[in-house]
Parts: sequence; structure tokens; C-alpha cells
Amino acid sequence: MTLTIAQLGQPVLRRPADPVAAEAIATESFQRLVGEMFQTLSQSGGAGLAAPQVFISLRLFLAVIDAPEDDAGPEVEVFINPRIVSASPEQESDWEGCLSFPELSVLVPRHRSVRMEYTDLDGAAQALDLEGFAARVVQHEYDHLDGVLTIDRAASTRDIVKASELEAVRRARAGGAEQDR
Ligand code: NI
Repeated sequence: MTLTIAQLGQPVLRRPADPVAAEAIATESFQRLVGEMFQTLSQSGGAGLAAPQVFISLRLFLAVIDAPEDDAGPEVEVFINPRIVSASPEQESDWEGCLSFPELSVLVPRHRSVRMEYTDLDGAAQALDLEGFAARVVQHEYDHLDGVLTIDRAASTRDIVKASELEAVRRARAGGAEQDR
């Protein structure tokens, strides 16, 4: 079963999410929720999905942390009660989409690398060092747990565009055609 994805404007997307109780992780209902989030993410084609996006205000998200190898699907990790414990000073900007407002693409500056500490689906403490695209995905999903969206992080409202126009925007910027930034 796939879950309904909360769309921009739903209050759950703006609320700081609650920690997951350690004893909840092994329960059938929690494991089922994560299974349904997996299905929802894989059907959506997104790179990550946070629990508030499926109307569950808990500190939990799924994120693609590695590109697909051969015919295998992408490697997806479950992050429970995650914390960003360190981040590179260097930032990079790139265009991001969000399943809660797929009509928009937003240019978002993110740390190039981050170290995450979190609890996994077996209830074990884990740490991961991520960089590049994976670091971007976990920072995006982590923001969802604090009610923060890509549109809040845009350096300029000009960095918020219709997804359908993204290629035109990229071409214009590469060519320096957008003179008035
Ligand atoms: Ni999102």
C-alpha cells in the first residue's frame, strides 16, 4: 500500500516532528509504516521521503544514499531520530525537487558533506559520512523533520522555478542570459 503525500500547505509539513520512542521501533505498526514509506518512495521515484510528508509527525526519513548498481535498485537507508553531528564548511548549490510540491524546482545551498548519527530499523545506533548527492538528500529530508522546506532555503525567490522550466533556466544561466540577478 502506498501512502498519501502531504502537499505544501498542510500544517504537518511545518511542524517540528517528535522523536521516535526506542521501544516503538520493533513494533509491527512502526515496521509497517516504514514498509509503506519504502513503497511510496519507490513508486514516486523520489530520492527521499520524511515521515511528516505522509502525515506522521515523527523524526524518521528514508533517503537514497547510493546510486543504483547494475539492475539493483538504489540503496535506501532508514534514518530514525537522526542528527547532523558535523558538516563541511563548503557549500554547493543545486536544484532540488520535493514530493510535497513536485511542480517546483528550487536552487538550494547545502553542505558538501555531513556526518549523520541515527538509529536504524533494528534499533541500533549508526553513523554515516555522506557527501555530494547523498549529503544533499539527507539534509533535505532532515529539514522536513524541523518543518523546513527548500523554498525557505532559496537564496533568492528567483531560485524558485517551475520544474517544467528547469532546463530553460539552466540554459539561460549557463549562457549568462539572465542579466538581472
Ligand atoms: Ni522534500
